[in-house]
Amino acid sequence: MTQAETQVPRVAVIGAGPSGLYTAEALLAGDPTVTVDVIDRLPAPYGLVRYGVAPDHLKMKSVIRALVQTFDDDRIRFLGNVTVGEDGIPGDVLHEYYHAVVYASGSDRDRDLGIEGEDLDGSVGSGAFVSWYCGHPDAVDLTPDLDRAGVVVVGAGNVALDVARVLARPAEDIAGTDAHDEVLDALRDSAITDVHVVIRRGPQHVKFTPAELRALAKLDDVEVLVHDDGVLAAGVEEPDERRMRQNIESLTAWSQDPPGAGGSRRIHLHFLRSPQRLIGENGRVSAVEVVRNEVVDSSVRATGESETFEAGLVVRAIGYSGEPIPGLPFDDDSGTVPHEEGRVMRGGEPVRGSYVTGWIKRGPTGVIGTNKSDGAETAASVLADLATLPAPAHPEPDAVVERLKEYGIEPVGWEDWLRLDAAEIQLGAERGGTDRVKIAERAAMLKAARA
Ligand SMILES: Cc1cc2nc3c(=O)[nH]c(=O)nc-3n(C[C@H](O)[C@H](O)[C@H](O)COP(=O)(O)OP(=O)(O)OC[C@H]3O[C@@H](n4cnc5c(N)ncnc54)[C@H](O)[C@@H]3O)c2cc1C
Ligand SMILES: NC(=O)c1ccc[n+]([C@@H]2O[C@H](COP(=O)([O-])OP(=O)(O)OC[C@H]3O[C@@H](n4cnc5c(N)ncnc54)[C@H](OP(=O)(O)O)[C@@H]3O)[C@@H](O)[C@H]2O)c1
Repeated sequence: MTQAETQVPRVAVIGAGPSGLYTAEALLAGDPTVTVDVIDRLPAPYGLVRYGVAPDHLKMKSVIRALVQTFDDDRIRFLGNVTVGEDGIPGDVLHEYYHAVVYASGSDRDRDLGIEGEDLDGSVGSGAFVSWYCGHPDAVDLTPDLDRAGVVVVGAGNVALDVARVLARPAEDIAGTDAHDEVLDALRDSAITDVHVVIRRGPQHVKFTPAELRALAKLDDVEVLVHDDGVLAAGVEEPDERRMRQNIESLTAWSQDPPGAGGSRRIHLHFLRSPQRLIGENGRVSAVEVVRNEVVDSSVRATGESETFEAGLVVRAIGYSGEPIPGLPFDDDSGTVPHEEGRVMRGGEPVRGSYVTGWIKRGPTGVIGTNKSDGAETAASVLADLATLPAPAHPEPDAVVERLKEYGIEPVGWEDWLRLDAAEIQLGAERGGTDRVKIAERAAMLKAARA
């Protein structure tokens, strides 16, 4: 080992989603000597940009063109197909190879409603459902049954609208995206005609953004119906936030004049309703009983009046939670790792050498761009601490790759990913009318990466 090698600051970033890549970018920009390994459990980078952003959000996916530039720097490596934690290399082992370890592992655990019938077949969290239509290797076998006319989507965030839109819009609109053939076939064969979005509070309390809402009105052959119990007609207090005023404007107009009237599919926005019970038939969900709510001081109180929506599929789009990271503190309520400016904190003291960024740091909210300033904050903390952190026992770059072999892990490097990337682009050219078609199965991804 040369003296130069022991002195090079080495940082591992766990997670190649937006927060990991923005943090890596800020680390490289902030110190000309630092080297970064970006480690991800998947053979492909980009986290939720690849596996969360809806396939028909092509413009949003183009953020990848900016994220990819981080890898132009010789001081960064991609180590894909490497799980950190109990199913892979333990996080504490990484400290033998790096001065600092930054967790950018996101929040991919679906939250539960905690109501009867939630375990029935046909009841899924948005994390699993979105992973399926985005071709995530862990969700290829989900293949939801889209064989009934009704679907219920619970929630009033952008994810709920993504799910409603993908299920309601004509499958041919998805054909020009990166969705793989099994997803397209399922959407083409879908019997869905009515997507019921069940929203527990009023139109003035939704989390979705005006652009996402307005996108519903632009869908071909889809009518959007606002069921608000006359709340909008009676007039709601004008919200301070511009986003909310714009939403109220669209919803008020639509409550009087539904966009896409007469369309063969419908998206129903049901305000002031909470799911109370999932009703099953032969182990599979067949309907959802919802209770009507009244809003009291921005929270809801059930009125006792209920109604039922027929549904063969129920998607809970009610937010996410992070996974605890072995060896690090975890706040179960927020589903995040306690931190100060990205430094992991235990009992008021920093856990030396451990950092967090992105959703595992601040919780499952915020758009892709929010992770840039977040990543910059964490990178600044790492850079400020580097001189005080102990040098790793094995700083040579190849040492960690050797150690991974002990855990049966063969990483996918950047060149491997570029081969997989090229294979997907080739599939897109073969389908025609799309830039790429995703390869979803992990074995097929690895085969293409190592071809
Ligand atoms: C369904 C959905 C759609 C969205 N659509 C949009 C949109 O259209 N526009 C927008 O601006 N924002 C959108 N967002 C928000 C945006 O995706 C997030 O702000 C952002 O992805 C969070 O970044 P992150 O890096 O913290 O997490 P993630 O993007 O989730 O990245 C985490 C990465 O860590 C890896 N990882 C996890 N655990 C381990 C482990 N143990 N070992 C190794 N690697 C691990 C994962 O594989 C993943 O690649 C969407 C979010 C969701 C859920
Ligand atoms: N195009 C985009 O820019 C885009 C697309 C997708 C996601 N994103 C971002 O990704 C983040 C995550 O989105 P998200 O939709 O998962 O989360 P979110 O914006 O936090 O919305 C979660 C929704 O679930 C509801 N909810 C929570 N618990 C519930 C319960 N028990 N019963 C009924 N409803 C419940 C919430 O209602 P209450 O408000 O009443 O709690 C809220 O409407 C957001 O910041 C979002 O903007 C962005």
